[in-house]
Amino acid sequence: MREKELVDAAIAARKMAYTPYSGFQVGAALLTKSGKIYRGCNIENASLTPTNCAERTAFFKAVSEGEKEFEAIAIVGGKAESDISDYCPPCGVCRQVMMEFCDPDQFHVILARSPEEWKVYTLRDLLPLGFGKSDLD
Ligand code: THU
Repeated sequence: MREKELVDAAIAARKMAYTPYSGFQVGAALLTKSGKIYRGCNIENASLTPTNCAERTAFFKAVSEGEKEFEAIAIVGGKAESDISDYCPPCGVCRQVMMEFCDPDQFHVILARSPEEWKVYTLRDLLPLGFGKSDLD
């Protein structure tokens, strides 16, 4: 898998984060099964709740362009004034969005704390017993 490429793309995506309220900047890079990479950043709002996380920005960009099958996502985050130094796990809402489009046992979530250091999880690791489409059958 293209882990290093995804980590580098997530770090680049983070530079576009719009975070006047929290100053916490997140970047994501989503790899489709067709081999394309969609980048996302968090986009905050004065009214707070319309804020969109980096991961969902990447998913919604991809889905809005016709992509519905995904292989992996890399995520990085940290305070605006510094380089990333710690892992930034995805929030619960973003995990649920991943659950909508991804096989939890196949989809990889890559968390990086530097351009050279990352850990790989499955979505199942991060969302055990997640609720998805098949639960509605
Ligand atoms: N944030 C993300 O972009 N992704 C996550 O999974 C966790 C949180 C953003 C939302 C907000 O702009 C900032 O980080 C602080 O919560």
